Amino acid sequence: MGLIIIPMKLKNFTTKAHTFFNLLPIEWQDTIVPHWNDSKSTTQVYVIVEHKVVVAGGLVFSKCPPDMMYYEKQAKKLFKKEYMYLGFIYVTPTQRGRSLGSLWLSKIKELYPKQGLWLAIEDQSLHHFYVKNGFEHIDTIVTPDQQQELVYAYKPKPKV
Ligand SMILES: CC(C)(COP(=O)(O)OP(=O)(O)OC[C@H]1O[C@@H](n2cnc3c(N)ncnc32)[C@H](O)[C@@H]1OP(=O)(O)O)[C@@H](O)C(=O)NCCC(=O)NCCS
Repeated sequence: MGLIIIPMKLKNFTTKAHTFFNLLPIEWQDTIVPHWNDSKSTTQVYVIVEHKVVVAGGLVFSKCPPDMMYYEKQAKKLFKKEYMYLGFIYVTPTQRGRSLGSLWLSKIKELYPKQGLWLAIEDQSLHHFYVKNGFEHIDTIVTPDQQQELVYAYKPKPKV
């Protein structure tokens, strides 16, 4: 009997956003759930489902996300250049290290082939993960609570 390989697809869960939010750490939920009503018209939620279970996901913002308002001025410039912001990228703990995070990013790039993307990280150990996925460190910012955050951007290569 042959092995059946089911390709993992990206699903738009914007109308079922809370199914994804419920998987997130509580401190992440606190920064998005109360603002969701205001953000949902300019934000998409995409997830990867395996055996009917959401295993990974993240948000694509076309306006400054609520937890990045201290970066609003620079963010506006990026959005003007048609860069969309990626936030709340999350793989469920038992499924990490299976390239699902990388898969989510590559599916987003496929879905928006002409789109620049940017994101910000507090955990500097993620530098390798984002560089490996084609992102470049473009800025370092200090948040209102004196944390350093690194800003990364991805620009699609023009097709020759
Ligand atoms: C970060 C995250 C999305 C990565 O997803 P993943 O499916 O586990 O990652 P992948 O399997 O695609 O990892 C690819 C590479 O990134 C590295 N990497 C992944 N997560 C890492 C982490 N937390 N710290 C350091 N390196 C990490 C891996 O070592 C791997 O490198 P290698 O292929 O050279 O060995 C996932 O670990 C996660 O959800 N973490 C908690 C939430 C979080 O921090 N999200 C990012 C917010 S900006």
